[in-house]
Amino acid sequence: MHPGLNSYSKLEDHYHIEHKNKFSGQGTTVYQQLKGGNGNVFPDFAELNAKWDTAAEYIAVYPNVLLGVHRDHAFVIILIPDGPEKTYEHIHLFYSKENTPKQLRLQNMKQWKLVFEEDVPVVEVMQRGRHAVNFDGGRFSPVMDNPTHCFHCWVANEVELYAKAAYTTSNINKACFFMVNAYTLALECNHPDTLSFFQFLQKYDREK
Ligand SMILES: [Fe+2]
Repeated sequence: MHPGLNSYSKLEDHYHIEHKNKFSGQGTTVYQQLKGGNGNVFPDFAELNAKWDTAAEYIAVYPNVLLGVHRDHAFVIILIPDGPEKTYEHIHLFYSKENTPKQLRLQNMKQWKLVFEEDVPVVEVMQRGRHAVNFDGGRFSPVMDNPTHCFHCWVANEVELYAKAAYTTSNINKACFFMVNAYTLALECNHPDTLSFFQFLQKYDREK
């Protein structure tokens, strides 16, 4: 996926990060700190142990925040959906101190932009595949897909929680609010109760 990155950061240098119903992602043990043309680097964050000389971690905080941390900088990506077929990525880079060299920041921004842009065609092709008439939801690989599986567990769990809240609330407005959330997530994961959620919303005039 990332020819430049993969040349030094290989699959076996990565580990999964999984925290049930909160976040998941991966870490690497071979992060190389960015160096400017004259060999200058960003200052490190305070009080990091030796692990962070070459460690970096990347997680998705469910549902739409991506975080990346390194010895000298961090990034945040906020995913803003604009309908089911389009997502905006808002990217922010943060440094350990104020007044870091502008040229180095520019270099870092360009490097990340390249990596993030390499992901876009892959995601778009996968999205196209999901629209294929015979796509059945696919399978997770127990070697590669654990963090993604965690996200899907979160979606399934949210469906159950919102549906339960909807069915146990006597206030109709509140119940419909919960059910809209359950229904939206159910559509996302093709949940077996999707139709009954739809009928619930139809009954209270929230869906046609
Ligand atoms: Fe990527």
